[in-house]
Amino acid sequence: MTAPSRDRQSLYPALANKIYGNYGGQGPMCQQTLAAIAHAYQEVQTLGPFGGAVKGWIDREVPALRQAIAQELHVAPSTIALTENVTDGCNIALWGLPWESGDRILMSDSEHPGIVAIIQELGQRFGVEVDIYPIQNLATDEEAGNAIAAGLTPRTKLVVLSHIAWNTGAVFPLTQIVDHCHNNGTLVLADAAQTVGMLPLNLPETGVDFYAFTGHKWLCGPAGVGGLYVSPNVELRPTFIGWRSITFTETGAPAGYDTTAKQYEAATSAYPLYVGLRTAIAQHHTWGTAEERYGQICTLSARTWEQLQETSGVHCVHPTPPKSGLISFQVGDRPDDRTSARISRQRHQKIVDTLENKYGILTRTLLNPSCIRICWHYLSTEADSNKFVDALSTLLPTVL
Ligand SMILES: Cc1ncc(COP(=O)(O)O)c(C=O)c1O
Repeated sequence: MTAPSRDRQSLYPALANKIYGNYGGQGPMCQQTLAAIAHAYQEVQTLGPFGGAVKGWIDREVPALRQAIAQELHVAPSTIALTENVTDGCNIALWGLPWESGDRILMSDSEHPGIVAIIQELGQRFGVEVDIYPIQNLATDEEAGNAIAAGLTPRTKLVVLSHIAWNTGAVFPLTQIVDHCHNNGTLVLADAAQTVGMLPLNLPETGVDFYAFTGHKWLCGPAGVGGLYVSPNVELRPTFIGWRSITFTETGAPAGYDTTAKQYEAATSAYPLYVGLRTAIAQHHTWGTAEERYGQICTLSARTWEQLQETSGVHCVHPTPPKSGLISFQVGDRPDDRTSARISRQRHQKIVDTLENKYGILTRTLLNPSCIRICWHYLSTEADSNKFVDALSTLLPTVL
């Protein structure tokens, strides 16, 4: 099945008046998701907002979302903790491990600064050493396995890796990497910000220990709901603790932690957003199988990558068409010294601003490496790609 020719522009308000290329930042919500959220807020207010009826509603909605997410990842619902976003999930995994002074974390040179900041703080508080393995300039994504294996030491307790790099669009061989790490007694935390909703996923097949994701990017759900998969084979203490994490004695005192991944959830959430994410996931399935949707994303990315390669003054960051929806490129000289890096950043920002203000095309700049990123989803079309490349070619002479 290929994507049905549905009217994306009336289904997704964000697609009505622009070419949207920032799925890696946030996906657009469709009318059904927006309506489901509004309806859920109405229902909660009509029933409560606090009382027996609402409790019953919450007791149905929370497991329903957990189940829907678990199905996407082919895992048991008991392994999924509901969070607010990717960074929450990474915090839970990173702070919940029993760190000792001298332990080491091995992370790539392409991790998101928010996650790097957590790792730096862990290093300072617990005397954990941080090693960095280079993956930004690999000739092939598969080489990441060797780069990581070469960086492992007997004290490496955890490897932190984005399953898809947010800056280059590279897709790393997670199963092979986990194998290398487990052979060394090292756990793996995958930052899955850019994979859930894009890649067909079967987490148990990868053996990954922790997989932190969000619903608001490629799944096109609301901002504010994400999740963390915790493998049943690992031990992790809860990081954020509250009434959702625990069981109770008869007199209402804490009796211990929930035995499932619910122990990593803390307290009250914006539950109507859960309905939104569940609706977004259901809508996602109406656009084809996971393999079909991913295939469409790769086909369109490859097309744009090739068009950009042929555009004078443009260098694609990934050496081959990325096997993901993220295409990053640099304009002009490569930023290989401090001065040219500053000029390159300014030039990229000017292009992004012009694309948005003059052509209604939304992209973003990244700083490491300095580049512009456009993302294609299965909702994106060849016409979007053509218009983007045409607009870029037209405006390039004004910035070069
Ligand atoms: C690789 C990666 N990690 C983490 C984040 C932060 O995501 P969130 O705001 O859901 O925590 C992003 C956001 O773009 C990202 O691309």
